[in-house]
Amino acid sequence: MENFSFYSPTYFAFGKGAENQAGNLVKQFGGSKVLIHFGGGSVVRSGLLDRVKKSLADADVPFVELGGVKPNPRSGLVYEGIELCKKEGVDFILAVGGGSTIDSAKAIAAGTVYDGDFWDFYSGKPITKALPVGTVLTIAAAGSEGSPDSVITKEEGMFKRGASGNAIRPKFSILNPALTQTLPAYQTAAGATDIMAHLYERYLTNSKEVEVTDRLIEALLLTMVHETPRVIENPDNYDARANIMWAGMMAHNNSCGVGRSQDWNSHNIEHELSALYDCAHGAGLAVTMPAVFKYVMHHNVMRFAQVAVRVWGCQMDFEHPEVTALAGIKAFQNFLISIGMPKNFEELGAKEEDIPKLVSVLCRGDGRTGSISGFVTLNEEDCTKIYQMMI
Ligand code: NZQ
Ligand code: ZN
Repeated sequence: MENFSFYSPTYFAFGKGAENQAGNLVKQFGGSKVLIHFGGGSVVRSGLLDRVKKSLADADVPFVELGGVKPNPRSGLVYEGIELCKKEGVDFILAVGGGSTIDSAKAIAAGTVYDGDFWDFYSGKPITKALPVGTVLTIAAAGSEGSPDSVITKEEGMFKRGASGNAIRPKFSILNPALTQTLPAYQTAAGATDIMAHLYERYLTNSKEVEVTDRLIEALLLTMVHETPRVIENPDNYDARANIMWAGMMAHNNSCGVGRSQDWNSHNIEHELSALYDCAHGAGLAVTMPAVFKYVMHHNVMRFAQVAVRVWGCQMDFEHPEVTALAGIKAFQNFLISIGMPKNFEELGAKEEDIPKLVSVLCRGDGRTGSISGFVTLNEEDCTKIYQMMI
C-alpha cells in the first residue's frame, strides 16, 4: 500500500425527507446568502425546488436562483453564476440536482473567489479556495456529492476537463433515495454504470498489497450487480435505491481508492465522447470500458482474472488466466447491456469518421502532449485502436 492522506469532511444527511434540513444545514455551515443552482427542470417538476426554498425561508436564509445546468455542464453558465454571486454577495452555493449541477456549482464556488479565469483550475491549477458548497442529490451516479472534483466542458473547443481540490468538497450533502425514483430508467442505468466505472478505475492499479481497498471495491461492485436490476424492474424500490445511492458516494469519495495508484483512462477516453456527442457520461463509459479493458488486459491479467472470479463468478483457469480475465470483461459488458446501456459507437450516436478528432483532442488538447496515462500509458495510436474497438 502507498502512503496517503485522506480528508473527507462532508456531512451527510441521508434518508426520507432529508431535503427539509437544507436551510438549517446552510446556516450551520455559515451561509447567510445562498445561490440555489439547478438543472433543466426536473427539480421544478418534482416539487423538490419548492421544498428546498421553503426550508431556506423557514431558516431565514435569503437566496437567489440560477437554473439551466445542462448534462455535461458548460463554461458559459459558470461565468454567469460567478457574476451573479459577486453581484448579489452570495456566500454559499446550494446545488439541487445531479452531478452536472453539483460540478457547475463547484466551478462557480471556486471562480467567485478567484481573480483570474475559472478555467485555470480546469487546466491544472489546484483549487485551494472556494465558497462553501452544499448539495441536494437527485441521481446516484457521478459521486460529486462526496468528491473534491468537478468536470466542466469549455464551449470554445468543447474541451471536457476536470478540476480538483478539497476546497470544493461539499460541506454537506443531502441524500434522499426517494428523490431518485423519478429518474428515467436510462438515467438510472447510466448512473449505475458510472458508479461501477469509478470502482473499476480504482481497481485497475499498479500498487501491490491493497487487499482492503480491493475488497471494498468488490463489495460495492457486487452491491451494484445485485441492486441495479431491482431498480430497473421497480423504480420505486426505495431500499435498492438507498443501497445504490450510498454505494455511489462510497465509490467516489476515494475511501476505496486510498493507498493505491488508479487508472482513469476510461474516463478520459469517454469524456471526449460526451463532449462531442453530448451523450450521458455513463452510457459513454458502457461503450468505452470493455474496449479499454480488453486492450490493456495483458498489462496485468491476474487483476482482471481476480475481479472476474470474485465479482462475476467466473471459474479460474490457472493455465490460461487470460480466458478468465476476458470472461469477466464479457460478463461486465453483458450486465451493462442487460440494464439498457449501449454496446457500440452506433448505439451511442458516435461516428467512426470522428475518431481522428477524438484522439487529437484527447491526446493533444488543452496542453496534453500526445498520451494519457493511468494503469498503462496510452499514446495516440493506442487510443485510435481503442475507439476503433468500440465500432
Ligand atoms: O437537468 P435536469 O432537468 O435536472 O435533468 C437531469 C439530466 O437531464 C436528469 N435528472 C437528474 N435527477 C433526476 C433527473 N430526472 C428526473 N428525476 C431526477 N431525480 O438526469 C439527467 C442527467 O443529470 P446529470 O446531473 O448530468 O447526471 P450525472 O449525475 O450523471 O452527472 C454527469 C456529469 O458528472 C460528471 C460527468 O462527466 C458529467 O458531466 N462527472 C463528475 C464527477 C465528479 N465531479 O466527481 C466524476 C464523474 O466521473 C463524472 O465525470
Ligand atoms: Zn464518472
